[in-house]
Amino acid sequence: MNRNLILAVCSILAMSCNNAKDAHSQTDDTAKVLKEHYESYFPIGVAVSPRALKTDEASFVIKHFSSITAENAMKMGPLHPKQNEYYWKDADSIVAFAKRNNIKLRGHALVWHQQTPSWFFTDKNGNTVSKEVLMQRIKDHITTVVTRYKDDIYAWDVVNEAIADAKDTIYRSSKFYQICGEDFIAKAFEWAHAADPDAILFYNDYNEIDPVKRSKIISMIRKLRANGIPVHAVGLQAHWALNEPTKDQLDKTLSDFAMLGLPLQITELDISVYPKEHNSRERKAADFDTTYSATKEKAQSRQYRMVFDLFRKYKKNITGVTFWNISDRHSWLDNFPVRGRKDYPLLFDKNLKPKSSYKAVVHFENGK
Ligand code: XIL
Repeated sequence: MNRNLILAVCSILAMSCNNAKDAHSQTDDTAKVLKEHYESYFPIGVAVSPRALKTDEASFVIKHFSSITAENAMKMGPLHPKQNEYYWKDADSIVAFAKRNNIKLRGHALVWHQQTPSWFFTDKNGNTVSKEVLMQRIKDHITTVVTRYKDDIYAWDVVNEAIADAKDTIYRSSKFYQICGEDFIAKAFEWAHAADPDAILFYNDYNEIDPVKRSKIISMIRKLRANGIPVHAVGLQAHWALNEPTKDQLDKTLSDFAMLGLPLQITELDISVYPKEHNSRERKAADFDTTYSATKEKAQSRQYRMVFDLFRKYKKNITGVTFWNISDRHSWLDNFPVRGRKDYPLLFDKNLKPKSSYKAVVHFENGK
């Protein structure tokens, strides 16, 4: 063989080898991290605690996620334990983490009926406060918190879970509602907007796949907006399970909310491996099998694939998808609805390794 022919053969071999390498790296999903797979769709977020950010989970969060939410640290109870006393340390540490690592930060939640401080609804004699007093307290709380984080938090869950689950009632009968009626909702948005006119203000709720609850949420948001109230976006918590939502249910849910014409975010996503229940209860004998069986793993991957297929379908409407907790090492579902029952609702296992559900979420044809 002459020398030129040998060189030509060598270079053809090298080229085909490189092509094979390129093709491989394009399809090698372990090379890309979660947020990169969704770069052209929406930011992928996660709920965090200051404690998790002191462990190996911190670098893991930085690697895979482009947005964070404080799981508890910015709620009224933890943040405002006494009338004239705020506890900023935990919330500030999450803000500093987001800033240091150039990660978007969602604020959660300004007004919620749970995790409220005990002083909030009573006077110094233990009597229930008047509407006027409670409205002033809500205003002070919102103004102080939103102003403090004005430059750091781009979106706030202003009111969380104000709509009732019961079909024949519109508003949840929370202390806020019992004392103030529905007015606290509109006012909360106005006060948050006054404190930070640039923040995107969300109404956030769960059980959004239930058609009756959904239509109540949508009607309330329409009414608020018709009255000029600055509700800018809708948060769908998305605490789901292997048995719900179905594909049709979720498609209809997203299409109904999309009709509002407002940005939507999936704010608290997880897929429990147990049948969906909405109320806390004691652990029973039937709950003792807490293994993550191959059947559960398969069903969960299928469910994750389905929900992300639909999230991508609604990418024009969806501006963020946030998981509620980092990995199966710890989830709030380990204690809800059944205390002490281990759940496996996330994409990563307790060693932070990607599960089959992770693969189901990141293996998709681009543009689909
Ligand atoms: C949960 C937290 O994950 C738990 O640590 C805490 O004990 C209770 O609250 N809907 C919400 C979230 O809006 O704030 C809740 O977070 C989960 C349900």
